[in-house]
Amino acid sequence: MINERMEKEINDQINAEFWSAYLYLSMSAWFTQRNLPGFANWMYVQYQEEISHGMKMFRYIHERGGNVKLLPIAKVDSEWKSPSDAFQSTLEHERKVTSLINSLMDTAHEIRDYATINFLNWYIEEQVEEEANADEIYNKLLMVEKDLAALYALDKEYSTRVFVDATLPAAE
Ligand code: FEO
Repeated sequence: MINERMEKEINDQINAEFWSAYLYLSMSAWFTQRNLPGFANWMYVQYQEEISHGMKMFRYIHERGGNVKLLPIAKVDSEWKSPSDAFQSTLEHERKVTSLINSLMDTAHEIRDYATINFLNWYIEEQVEEEANADEIYNKLLMVEKDLAALYALDKEYSTRVFVDATLPAAE
């Protein structure tokens, strides 16, 4: 049975993951409206990833005999100044998510919930990748943003990103 405090904090994190999904869906719309379908696709895949992050926690609470409580999802931004501005927001947001996951880990250690420590390790690793991806694209955009041909080439590159649900066990 999962500890009550841990259960509440994971429920809050489900909300944060779904809020992230909502944010990236909003960014996907913004890129579509600016005729950058590759970046829109990248953000749409990011939206799908965030839903999977939330759902992994949803399943975990049930596995531990707890109760999932879905909370309201707050409003997200819908305007950014430029593609690099959107990715700067992405990077800042992912850094914030990393600190939220670290706080969850602090609680799990404090109450000696070893199963949750083990569970959260997946997210600790995932956040390294999340920050690195956002940082890489943000820096590329800073270099090419003023050059339309280069921007379109980068947009094309991101049109190939596909969603793979890394939260599910690999198929045998
Ligand atoms: Fe669920 Fe982008 O971290």
